[in-house]
Amino acid sequence: MKKILLACESSCDETAFCLYDLTSKKIIDSVINSQLKIHKDNGGVIPELASKEHYKNIDILLSNLLISNNINLSEIDFFAATKNPGLPGALLIGYTFCKSIAWHFSKPYLSINHLEGHIFSSFLTNPNIPFPHLCLSISGGHTSLYLITNFLEYTKLGNTRDDSAGECFDKIAKLLKLPYPGGKYIEELAAKKKLNNIRNYPISKMSDNSISFSGLKTAVLYDVINNNWYNKVEKRVKPETPLEFIIEVANSTQYVINNMLGHWLEKNLITHNTAKAVTVVGGVACNNFINEHLKKIVEKKNITFFRLEKKFCGDNADMIAYVAAKKIELNTYENSYQEEIKI
Ligand code: KG4
Ligand code: ZN
Repeated sequence: MKKILLACESSCDETAFCLYDLTSKKIIDSVINSQLKIHKDNGGVIPELASKEHYKNIDILLSNLLISNNINLSEIDFFAATKNPGLPGALLIGYTFCKSIAWHFSKPYLSINHLEGHIFSSFLTNPNIPFPHLCLSISGGHTSLYLITNFLEYTKLGNTRDDSAGECFDKIAKLLKLPYPGGKYIEELAAKKKLNNIRNYPISKMSDNSISFSGLKTAVLYDVINNNWYNKVEKRVKPETPLEFIIEVANSTQYVINNMLGHWLEKNLITHNTAKAVTVVGGVACNNFINEHLKKIVEKKNITFFRLEKKFCGDNADMIAYVAAKKIELNTYENSYQEEIKI
């Protein structure tokens, strides 16, 4: 008989659900309601707007998923939702919703860490990734490098000191008057022209095992100011800024972020030379230019680079279901109804 898990993700600007068959270890179906249209012109996610959208859509999204799979709420055996980290209001809506249903049907409820979701998301496309491996997690909320020794067993090797890679893309994109998510639009713009002139932005190298993007962000701002293309009132480029200049800044931004991530990974592949593979996860892992560069670095070491399918790079409930299912399989979960809500 099928055992079904329902997982929810609502930590930022996506409301998502996944139905997972615990017996066959396969995704039955999943759904995402992205709020991109709402946040596109704001240069980033507005937390209050995000919470409102989750609240507005969550029940209809789940109803539709259940109806289209002919599954009744009472047939679900386990419930799970992202607990942290993320936008407090957005998280609260998703996990309170799931917890209440689980409680109503007296079924177990699991709290899942969003970062663990990303870290193990590569297994959704490649179930045979060997251990140990390195995982570079690059998104809007975080930039970290991990050594993964087994399912749900990992050590953080390094972190960003300031902005995440995605945040750096987003802030520079906002300055260039590009929509959110900035990384996507910077990549699209950069692909329009071959990179033959790289602007003089610093490639920060830290003495410890951290990474930092704030120097790049400041260098781009001063580049725009020094070239007289800065509109002080709008805090963005002037409307008459030449497209050539914007493309060159976009191209150079991507080049520097790519280089910094590459150096960081290379350094860690030397220190952790037992690693048999590398995975790259999170929203920035959508970027083709970065993937190709990292793949070359990894393959030079004669180890495997696992590229994540684009649909699993950004936030999704499939990765939350995967971690919850592993916890159930390994019997390492706690029923978390009573967990205190800490904001
Ligand atoms: O994983 P995600 O959807 O949300 C978080 O958990 O943060 O990542 C969103 C981030 C945004 O900062 C966005 O600019 C970046 O992923 N991103 C990209 C691309 N597509 C999205 N960055 C670089 N290149 C892309 N193609
Ligand atoms: Zn995320």
